[in-house]
Amino acid sequence: MDIGIDAIGLFTPHWYVDLVDLAHARGDEPAKYTIGIGQDQMTVTPATQDVVTLAANAANQLPADSLDERLGMVIVGSESGVDESKAAAISVVKLLHLNPWVRAFDIKEACYGGTAGLLAARDFVAAHPDKTALVIASDIARYGLASGGEVTQGAGAVALVVSAQPKLLVLHDDALAYTEDIPDFFRPTGMTVPVVDGHYSTSAYLDFVGKVFARHQSQHHDQYGDYAALLFHLPFTKMGKKALAALAPAMNDADHQRLTERLAAASQLSRRIGNIYTGSLYLSLVSLICEDKTIRSGDRIGLFSYGSGAVGEFFSGTLQPDFANRIDQAGIQQMLSARVRLNVLEYEQVFTAQLPLGDADATVPVEESTARFSVGGRANHARWYRDQQQEKGA
Ligand code: CAA
Repeated sequence: MDIGIDAIGLFTPHWYVDLVDLAHARGDEPAKYTIGIGQDQMTVTPATQDVVTLAANAANQLPADSLDERLGMVIVGSESGVDESKAAAISVVKLLHLNPWVRAFDIKEACYGGTAGLLAARDFVAAHPDKTALVIASDIARYGLASGGEVTQGAGAVALVVSAQPKLLVLHDDALAYTEDIPDFFRPTGMTVPVVDGHYSTSAYLDFVGKVFARHQSQHHDQYGDYAALLFHLPFTKMGKKALAALAPAMNDADHQRLTERLAAASQLSRRIGNIYTGSLYLSLVSLICEDKTIRSGDRIGLFSYGSGAVGEFFSGTLQPDFANRIDQAGIQQMLSARVRLNVLEYEQVFTAQLPLGDADATVPVEESTARFSVGGRANHARWYRDQQQEKGA
């Protein structure tokens, strides 16, 4: 039985900073950011968005036919949750008025949580072929003002519907994971930004790429010629180039050229949105589909997922005939072109004006945005959310 991704929804907040502006403010060469790191813009997260609203807004972008009474499981993968106990997935079920007869929970393992959710959902559908699962990778990447990772910040969520006979990508039974306990990036409870050793994390990622691809090829006898595209978790787009370069010595020129061009297409949305942690790999898949008009149904796509701490996993899938219609490509372009550019001072003010952690009552000022769902505030210890559609009586 074929199982895989039936549809994808994407959401990112409506503010961004141009990284040339940020480079000037930080006294860096703009080319370091745009070429050396490979980022053009950085999403700025308003206080009205958290991982719950990002997740609900992403699922709200799914094609209307993709969430129905067959839904049996809702998973949110995130490293930036807002509650130490309660799953964001439960709030998503409520906000979207989903069928309550579902299993709802979160998965945490840095940028790997979404992949863990996707593969758990595949196994769930294999056991229950008449059911579907909603997996949402939702994160806010915050490193701190003027920190080493600042230029790679971002925010967004990618919603994946997993089903039998999927219309977008059939997943192959070839997923291979590698886990090793390393201190490259982690965020102790109570901290709002991670402890990260940027250069060590980059070399750890490449070490995992080498190990996982070598073993995958020895177990599955796949060749680079089998792949129309290789996608990577993109904390910043240069990381994808580094990963491909690490594999390049074993490729012929034609494979290298094709995979390089397709990686460039798959990096376009990350260049503008920034790191969305556990959704970044799936943002690359969206970007490939939106930006590369040469990929075809039947093409095999390889996906490398990396979550610091660390877990690396490689798996692959085959594009299905209706793949291009299972993402709202026009809606994504509209969402991005409606974004508002902030100057660095405005960004710094927004960065420090988030709803503080803790449980004191607070109200978040309402603002104009592209989001259906937003954070209203906190009352009686719990966050509460607004639904613009409901408020307008639609
Ligand atoms: N023109 C062009 N290129 C320039 C340049 C210029 N004027 N100046 C510098 N560069 C290049 C450098 O040569 C370097 O390129 P290479 O990596 O190819 O050598 C690149 O720009 C970056 O320069 P630095 O290494 O000096 O930059 P930095 O010290 O500020 O650190 C970083 C960069 C490590 C990525 C940092 O932004 C960071 O810590 N990021 C967060 C951690 C991260 O994303 N790690 C990735 C792996 S972990 C993971 O994947 C999980 C996750 O999502 C976090």
